[in-house]
Amino acid sequence: MKKNKNHKVAVIMGSQSDYKTMKMTVKILKNIGLKYETKIISAHRTPKRMYEFASSAKDKFGVIIAGAGGSAHLPGMVSALTTIPVLGVPIESKKLKGIDSLLSIAQMPKGVPVGTLAIGEDGAMNAALLAASIIANNNPTIKKKLENWRLSQTRSVKKKPK
Ligand code: RP5
Repeated sequence: MKKNKNHKVAVIMGSQSDYKTMKMTVKILKNIGLKYETKIISAHRTPKRMYEFASSAKDKFGVIIAGAGGSAHLPGMVSALTTIPVLGVPIESKKLKGIDSLLSIAQMPKGVPVGTLAIGEDGAMNAALLAASIIANNNPTIKKKLENWRLSQTRSVKKKPK
């Protein structure tokens, strides 16, 4: 068993084009001080890469965040190959504005779960915060950083509009 493997997050995405959105995940993970790795893994264009990653993910990661667009099967396929929590970020597609991605990720049949976030950057950001919450259960440093992050968000809300 590798030390602290449960405290590292994998941020995977189906295409280079998804990184515009998934950069937001990386930004928040950095801000909270979580270790992470990014990878492009396409369920249909690089199926062997997907299989190799997912079947060995438990040795390295505590949470997997998977961004995908269109017929977005990457998060579900990865979840089928591991019991590590998989959080899916529906990328906003050009043709259907991400509704296709959202439904593909959210509508997993029973037995293989994917935690589904909002479409686009909101989902990418919340995926990082949710990964931090999961890891914070066993990591007091991350818990404190997450609490501070929430506090600074609360403080940033003005009492009156200008
Ligand atoms: C999906 O197809 C990717 O997740 C991406 O959102 C979408 C389009 O990919 P590209 O054509 O931009 O490579 O697999």
